[in-house]
Amino acid sequence: MIKAVRGTRDLLPPETALWNFVEAAVRDVFRAYNFHEIRTPIFENTQLFSRSVGEETDIVSKEMYTWVDGQGATFETQMVSEWMLTHQDEIRRASHQRVFENRRGPDLVVQMANGTLVVEFKRRTVNQATIANMKQYRKSLAAAFPEQADPKLRLVFAEEPSQFVRHLADSNGVDVEVLQLAEYEPPESLTLRPENTAGVVRAYIEHDLQKRGLNKLYYIGPQFRRERPQKGRYRQFYQIGAEVIGPATAGSESPARDAEILELLATLLDRLGIKDWTLQLNSIGCADDRAKYNEALRKALDPVKDKMDPDCQRRAVTNPLRVFDCKVPEDQPIIEKLPRISQFLDEPCRQHFQQVQEILKSVGVEFQLNDRLVRGLDYYTRTAFEFTHGALGAQNAILGGGRYDGLSEALGGPAAPGIGFAIGEDRLVLALSESAEAVYRKPDVYIAPLGAGMNKEAARLARELRRHDIFVELGDETFRLKKSLETASKMGAKYALIAGENELSTGVLALKNLATGEQKAVPRTLLAQVIQS
Ligand code: HAM
Repeated sequence: MIKAVRGTRDLLPPETALWNFVEAAVRDVFRAYNFHEIRTPIFENTQLFSRSVGEETDIVSKEMYTWVDGQGATFETQMVSEWMLTHQDEIRRASHQRVFENRRGPDLVVQMANGTLVVEFKRRTVNQATIANMKQYRKSLAAAFPEQADPKLRLVFAEEPSQFVRHLADSNGVDVEVLQLAEYEPPESLTLRPENTAGVVRAYIEHDLQKRGLNKLYYIGPQFRRERPQKGRYRQFYQIGAEVIGPATAGSESPARDAEILELLATLLDRLGIKDWTLQLNSIGCADDRAKYNEALRKALDPVKDKMDPDCQRRAVTNPLRVFDCKVPEDQPIIEKLPRISQFLDEPCRQHFQQVQEILKSVGVEFQLNDRLVRGLDYYTRTAFEFTHGALGAQNAILGGGRYDGLSEALGGPAAPGIGFAIGEDRLVLALSESAEAVYRKPDVYIAPLGAGMNKEAARLARELRRHDIFVELGDETFRLKKSLETASKMGAKYALIAGENELSTGVLALKNLATGEQKAVPRTLLAQVIQS
């Protein structure tokens, strides 16, 4: 039996109701804060992630789903297939015949309607040797397959060849054909997005969104990381995220943006009824602070790094901040003693962080300062944060985010300070799982058609009731009443409506309250009103 791939899962009812409930609540909150939805592709160029998230991060170095797209489609192979398409009406058979021992054969030997062709594909230049080879192919082919005697030679070019090449071909009895080639798509490295900030910033640059001033964008969708699956950690998981990005003149750099994002998150979690969250807050400094801090880290790591896990040792040299992501327990005492970024913040950075904290205090959002929090992605500057939730166990980060003031420039765009977050939707839903039953909508009424021919009457009844926004489930005329009532109770319907010939001809139907067992005769015209009361 084929099962879902490790680390992926099916979301089934009633749980999907909880996902929809969460997404609807989140969209409401985003609306109140003037955020608008952006949808970016699920796969992007690999470089987008290596240049933004960073080569040395766990995500890029070991967790990405990356493949070469269009593998094998070299320029030549694309020419061959396009040439075959162009000549499909004349071609009887085509092959790369292996009659040329110990040497490369022609690109193609083709049986055309009017004889055999030996074809070579080139961009636009050839030399004497190419022509000599072709003549040789012709000879060998004629010797091996006498019935293909006197094959013709043809050079197919992707671009108009030079006069010299044309002359060379002509004087050796070789035809020249110039192929109208559709746009060549070289093979490229693509990656399933492991996160969405890079994609949003790419879109910001690509569509020149800076001209809109401050962009407040949100997204909901799947992300992919090849992590070791466990509760709360999947290989396909879902994020609800938001990014605030724009030119500094639009206020994108202001601490007010950071505080608004954090306050929005507190509101959102509260509104969803998630209580026991903790906001962990840090500032990881600006570019200059980071250079000084990296230096200090390298210095502190130098005498001890040999005792660390090989992965951490490499990081200690290439990207010392990433040492904080090392999970090996024996390395923790070393990491614990390393200098902290908080000691290296320059004045503007320190003030920015101070102001974020002041606004948070004034709006009553509680936080804990945590100067070990560096986040697992390289693009962060200044404010960095995570919300953790006690009930989630080992994977307790329900969301994370921060500022990324230099990211747009690193991707070749304009200066565009930004800040954002992503909530792990799987974890959010996990934290709410006790409420799954509560948000799962059950039918208001189950219609039980009684007897042959009653399905069509029941369908009409259902149509009438659904027009009143009543949630209707339909039974089947082959079911006995007992079975219908059992099915209705099992699915949690509030009422069962009995639609037999008698009831329909008199226009008065039997409506049974499944919780109390009470049954009432209700005129058809009043059904909707009674069910909704
Ligand atoms: P992140 O911390 O890598 O940040 O991921 C954000 C959240 O996604 C995590 O806190 C966690 O809840 C969830 N998550 C991550 N990996 C998994 C997984 N394998 N299974 C289930 N949930 C997972 C980012 O992705 C940044 N792009 C956030 C951001 C937006 N920063 C600025 N803007």
